[in-house]
Amino acid sequence: MTLHRRHVPLVILSACQSAAQGQGEEPLGSVAARLTAAGIPAVLAMTHSVLVPTTRALFGKLYEQLARHRAIGEALDAARFHLHNHPEKYEVQRGPERVPLRLYDWFVPALYQSGADVPLLRKAGKGAHIETTAPRTNLPAGPESGFFGRRSELWDIERGFAAKARRITLTGFGGQGKTALALEAGRWLTRTGLFESAVFVDYSRVQAADAVAVAVSHIGTVLGESLPDAGAAEQALKRTATLVILDNLESLAAEPLRELLAAANGWSESGGTRVLLTTRTPDFGHPDYRIEGTNVHRRILLAGLGRRKAPDDALEWFAELAKLPPAPEVPSPSREALIELFDRVRFHPLSIRVLAQQLKTRRPAELASASAGCSPPLRPARPDRRTRRPSCWPRYASRSTGWTSTPERCCLGSASSRAGRSRRTSSRSPASATSKPARPAPSGPCCGGNWSRRRWSRPSPCRGSSRRSCASIRHWPPCSGSS
Ligand SMILES: Nc1ncnc2c1ncn2[C@@H]1O[C@H](COP(=O)(O)OP(=O)(O)OP(=O)(O)O)[C@@H](O)[C@H]1O
Ligand SMILES: [Mg+2]
Repeated sequence: MTLHRRHVPLVILSACQSAAQGQGEEPLGSVAARLTAAGIPAVLAMTHSVLVPTTRALFGKLYEQLARHRAIGEALDAARFHLHNHPEKYEVQRGPERVPLRLYDWFVPALYQSGADVPLLRKAGKGAHIETTAPRTNLPAGPESGFFGRRSELWDIERGFAAKARRITLTGFGGQGKTALALEAGRWLTRTGLFESAVFVDYSRVQAADAVAVAVSHIGTVLGESLPDAGAAEQALKRTATLVILDNLESLAAEPLRELLAAANGWSESGGTRVLLTTRTPDFGHPDYRIEGTNVHRRILLAGLGRRKAPDDALEWFAELAKLPPAPEVPSPSREALIELFDRVRFHPLSIRVLAQQLKTRRPAELASASAGCSPPLRPARPDRRTRRPSCWPRYASRSTGWTSTPERCCLGSASSRAGRSRRTSSRSPASATSKPARPAPSGPCCGGNWSRRRWSRPSPCRGSSRRSCASIRHWPPCSGSS
């Protein structure tokens, strides 16, 4: 067995029931026992299903203790004590109150150990020089309210890049969490050491005629090198395994986008460097970014942050958002009411953020009834089979900008339309690299457009009949201006 030959001292199977003695149904059943039998000195596995907060607490303590040169068994004992002394997992709704869920699950991890209980990490000898290099990145710090869910997408990105994928594109509606996921992937993959460096280029903040130059300049800054052009960047990226994140590519006009995609293709083939792209556009229509028949480029289509049957990521995020000021003026909604609301917006993250704000002053029933005349944000819908868009959501008019979401349109339509105008203007005068108008923000005007026969018409100022729909969605950010 390769692991044994390579003297792997500890294998951790953190999946649920990985210590089970398999009857054939559990994929990991009896793996722990077989690994021990094959000569792995220590195997840590789970005897039962395990909650995410338990995993977090268990491994936080275990790794801390291992880093302090404790023996594996001792470190696990300390982690079990920690679990026993901190049984609170997360908050659940009990009647009108939210109460902590307490669970004594300290016994879930099981250690199979065939030899002596020895420290995993030895102390460095006197005078030994330990070289620690922090990853070089320009990634912003994680969000204050935390990052939730997207485990399977993060797994796909990590496995993809560890295997054959050179380029991965995240695509989906506006506000679906593409940027948030790309940043989290960047933070995670530099922490785990898959990349030595990560470069984040946000094209929503610069209206660049020369998108390649913008990326090269960011790469040069992060790697600390002076890079005159894309070719020099390619050489630098060959030397340092870097995750290059090209974000919000729907902001670019066709020609700069084409040039950037061509350059990024070269970068992604340089040494250990890989490229992660985000866009609302479902398909770039570029031969190097085909979405079928290749593993070298992969597309990940983002759905909502959960669903009715798996709402916990969204609920946990909502609980964190609720803790941010201002303090709520109304009692916090029940779990069922929240799931109902989230389901109506199909667990769309930007909508959940807006709802979290609204639910500090309004009750879920008010939001639902106030939305009766405004079907877009809170109307349940079935996804369109072909596009996976909910069928009542609008088809975005412009090919270059791709998808946008109903909630964003409803709350933020005018701001999006300003951004669209700016894009068109910039493609007429490509020499200018001007600052793009602010991205749609939840404070934007709400009278973004109108609904007829499931089609979204162009955003327009509140006037005549659209005033009624504006009033009916006043729980979303209020109209500014003429209405
Ligand atoms: N998994 C998540 N955990 C916590 N917050 C999230 C998550 N996904 C998205 N968000 C938050 O939801 C909001 C919208 O997400 P984001 O900006 O990433 O969407 P987007 O798909 O990049 O939108 P756009 O197409 O407009 O660029 C942001 O405030 C982001 O921080
Ligand atoms: Mg984005």
